[in-house]
Amino acid sequence: MSPPVPFPRRAPRERFGTEPPPSQRVALVSGANRGLGLEVSRQLAAAGMTVLLGARQLAAGEKAAKALRRAGGDVTAVQLDVTAQADVDALAERIGRDYGRLDVLVNNAGAYFNLDERASSVDLAYVRGALDTNLLGAWRLSEAAIPFMRRHAYGRIVNVSSGCGAIDSEGEDCPAYRVSKAALNSYTRMLAAELKGSGILVNAVCPGWVATDMGGPGGRPVADGAAGIVWAASLPSQGAITGGFFRDRAPIAW
Ligand SMILES: NC(=O)c1ccc[n+]([C@@H]2O[C@H](COP(=O)([O-])OP(=O)(O)OC[C@H]3O[C@@H](n4cnc5c(N)ncnc54)[C@H](OP(=O)(O)O)[C@@H]3O)[C@@H](O)[C@H]2O)c1
Repeated sequence: MSPPVPFPRRAPRERFGTEPPPSQRVALVSGANRGLGLEVSRQLAAAGMTVLLGARQLAAGEKAAKALRRAGGDVTAVQLDVTAQADVDALAERIGRDYGRLDVLVNNAGAYFNLDERASSVDLAYVRGALDTNLLGAWRLSEAAIPFMRRHAYGRIVNVSSGCGAIDSEGEDCPAYRVSKAALNSYTRMLAAELKGSGILVNAVCPGWVATDMGGPGGRPVADGAAGIVWAASLPSQGAITGGFFRDRAPIAW
């Protein structure tokens, strides 16, 4: 007897939760007391989202949040050093208690951009610091955020990366920063692959060279750099763009 003919295998169905309107979305932005994080918070709030503005110096966060509230945004400062697991845990508990949801996570906090360092001589404590902030900071927060996003089968995770982290980018400066952003890109791809079909989209975004404290003078306006991050944080479920690396909404090489 011939074996039964198997049913044709179907591709797994994308599982979309109802896409919440912006006014129902809760967004968390790390490193948001200044620079790109502050502007991303402003733009997300202007789109109607409730924004948790993460700052490792709460007083600086409160000041920034107050200014955004004055402009009409629903913005609350939260204590968040991305290298402190205790801060992440306390924040996750507060989000569960006060909001019951988290729809958007922008892993923006970043540091250790130093043009004078070289790979042959950089202090490894410095490299460790870069990895702890730029890679593990995003990792810690994502692990805390994903259970909330799974509840509604909806989530947007944006890892603010850099063209400096592209594996074929030229340059011998900023080795700690470059390696940490390359690792963040790798993490982005892995997480996106794992979460495919869950309704949670994960992408890396390079804001370009932006005139912040980190970028220094000469870069482009902060609002322009932030726009590509906000785009990735607001991607529609249809099309399910995930696992990509973008600048100004266009894919760039890893
Ligand atoms: N500017 C550019 O040209 C450029 C280009 C490519 C990528 N990026 C990326 O864009 C992101 C934002 O950069 P930016 O230009 O806005 O830099 P920035 O003006 O120097 O701001 C960095 C922010 O990250 C925060 N931060 C640093 N370490 C932190 C930690 N451990 N926990 C929590 N917050 C921390 C800072 O907080 P404090 O105020 O407490 O220090 C500050 O709010 C970074 O990931 C950066 O790598 C920037």
